[in-house]
Amino acid sequence: MEQDGVSPLQHFVVAKKTISALFHQLLEFVKEGSDFVEDTWRSEDLDNVAEEDQCLQIQTCFRKLTVIKDVLDRRHMKVAFFGRTSNGKSTIINAMLRERVLPSGIGHTTNCFLSVEGTDGEQAYLTTEDSEERKGIETVNHLAHALHMNRNQDSGCLVRVFWPKTKCVLLRDDLVLMDSPGIDVTSELDSWIDKFCLDADVFVLVANSESTIMNTEKHFFHKVNERISKPNIFILNNRWDASVLEPEYLEDVRKQHMDRCVSFLVDELKVVDLNKAPDRIFFVSAKEVLSARIHRAQGMPETGGALAEGFQERLMEFQSFERTFEEFISQSAVKTKFEQHTIRAWQIIESVKAIMDAINISSAEKKVFSLEDREALMDRLEFVRNQLNFITEDIKDKIKVVSDEVAAKVSSALEEEMRCLSVLVDEFCSEFIPAPNALALYKTKLVSYVEERMVKNLELRCSSSINGCVLSSQRDIMDTLRPLLPPAARAQLHLPSRRFTMTYDLNLTSLGADFTEDIDFHFSLGLTSLVNRFLGPANAKQALSLLEQKLKRKKQAEAARAVPHVRLRNPLHTSLQKLEGQVC
Ligand code: GTP
Ligand code: MG
Repeated sequence: MEQDGVSPLQHFVVAKKTISALFHQLLEFVKEGSDFVEDTWRSEDLDNVAEEDQCLQIQTCFRKLTVIKDVLDRRHMKVAFFGRTSNGKSTIINAMLRERVLPSGIGHTTNCFLSVEGTDGEQAYLTTEDSEERKGIETVNHLAHALHMNRNQDSGCLVRVFWPKTKCVLLRDDLVLMDSPGIDVTSELDSWIDKFCLDADVFVLVANSESTIMNTEKHFFHKVNERISKPNIFILNNRWDASVLEPEYLEDVRKQHMDRCVSFLVDELKVVDLNKAPDRIFFVSAKEVLSARIHRAQGMPETGGALAEGFQERLMEFQSFERTFEEFISQSAVKTKFEQHTIRAWQIIESVKAIMDAINISSAEKKVFSLEDREALMDRLEFVRNQLNFITEDIKDKIKVVSDEVAAKVSSALEEEMRCLSVLVDEFCSEFIPAPNALALYKTKLVSYVEERMVKNLELRCSSSINGCVLSSQRDIMDTLRPLLPPAARAQLHLPSRRFTMTYDLNLTSLGADFTEDIDFHFSLGLTSLVNRFLGPANAKQALSLLEQKLKRKKQAEAARAVPHVRLRNPLHTSLQKLEGQVC
C-alpha cells in the first residue's frame, strides 16, 4: 500500500459495477417481458395465449430481481476484527486507515461494535442503532467522547462511523472495517455472531504475540465456524515489536506461534489447507505502522518515533498482510456474494424463459389455428359469394314473375272497371251548366271523381292479393338466404316490417285530354229500339249480341293500350340491390 498502484479491492468495485449494470439490463428486459405478458393476458384477441398465473409469476420474478439488485447496490466488503481486549484491534484498524480514527489504548477500550465505512462528504460523522441522526466527529477525541457518552450501552450494539473517503484510500473501495469489544469481556458471543458475523467476508483474529492464542479466542472462532461454512480467517500476531527484546529467541518464538496458528486453522477449524495456512498468518506491530504512517503523512521521517530494531521487516509484513488481505477479501466477496446472487438471478431468468417459451408455444399453436380458421372462412366466403350470385339471379326472376302477375291482375281488374265506367259516370252528381267555363270545371270534377272511385275499386280488387303474392315471394327469398348467414345473423333476418304500398296512377286527365263533348240535342231512338223495329225481336237479339261482342273486343284493345301504371315500392327489392352491391 505504501507504493501506489491499483488496489486489489478494485476487483470487487469493478465486479460490483459490472454486475449492477447487468442486473439493471436484466430488470429492463424482465419488466418489458412482464408488461408484454400482462398485455397478452388481458388482450381479448389473444385468448388463452398467456394466463394470469404466468403474469403473476413473471411479476414475482421482477420483484425478486429488484430485491437482489438493491442488495447488490448496498453491498460492500466487510472485515471483522476479533481478539482479546488490548491485543490491538483498534490500533490495527487505525494503521490500515493511516489515521487515528478509532480510540485505542488505556481508557479507550472498545465497548461496542464500531464499523468504519467511507462517506462522500468532507465531514466525518457517526450514527447509532437507535437514531439515524448524524453526529459530527471531527477528531478521534470527539469520537472517544461520543462513545464515552454511550458507555452504558450494550456491548452488542453498533455504532457506525462514516469517515471521508478523501482522507482514506481504503474506504473508497466499498470496504467496511468492523472493530469489536474484546471477546474475553462478553458472554454474548452467540448474539454477536448472529448480528455481526453472518455477512462478514473476512475475520481477523488479532492475537498477542507476547502470549499464545487463548481458549476464549479459540472458543469464539469455533462458534463462528459452526455458524458459517468455512469462514475466511486471518491471524495477526500483533505486538511483534516486543520480540526484539529477546532477539535470540525470535525465530523460535515465531515458529512456535506459526505452528500453533497453523494447527488451529488447519486441524481444529479445518478452514484452510495446510500448504495455504502460513499465507494467512502474519507477525506485525500495528502501533509501529500507525505511528510511521502518521509521521509520513505529516511529512516527517517514518522512523521519527523511537522505533525498535527490525521495524522495516515488520512494516513490510504488515503491507504484505494488507495486500494479501485485500486480494483475498475482494475475491472472496465477489465469489461469496456475487456468485450467489448470479446463481439466484440465473434461476429467476430460467423461470422467465420458461414462461416466455410457454407463451411462444401457445401463440404458435394459436397462429396455426388462426390460419386454418382463415382458410375455412375464405372457402366459406367464396361459397357464400357464389350462392349469393345464384340467389340474386333467382330473386330477379322471382321479382319479374311477381311484376308480371301484378300487371296481369291489375290489367284484368281495370278492364272490369272500364266496363262499369258508365255506372261511375251516372253516380256523379254535380250541377251541369252548359257554359264553356262551367263545362271545363264539370269535366275536371267528373274525371277526378271517376279516377278516385276507380283507384279505390282497384285497391279493393288487387292490393290484398298482390301483397299476399309479394309476401310469399319475400318468404321464399329469405328461406333461401337464411342458410348462408352465420347463426347470429340468422336470428336478425326478419320480413321487412314495412309492407308494400301500391299506388294506382290512372292519369285519366291526360287520357281524356282529346275528348270533345257533344252536348247538342240529337234525336235518337237508341240502337236496340231501331234494330227491334227493323229486324223484329228474335233477329234483333242475335244481331245485338254480335255487335256487343265486337264492341267488347274493341274496348279490350283500348283498355290494354290504357294499362295504368302501378308502382310498387318494394323494400325487399331495395335490400336485394344493396346486398348485391356488397357481394360484388
Ligand atoms: P479493546 O478495545 O480494549 O478490546 O483493545 P484493543 O484490542 O482495541 O487494543 P488497542 O488498540 O486499544 O490497544 C491497546 C494498547 O496496546 C494500546 O495502548 C496500544 O498502543 C497498544 N498496542 C497496540 N498495538 C501494539 C503493538 O503492535 N505494539 C505495542 N507495543 N503496543 C501496541
Ligand atoms: Mg479497541
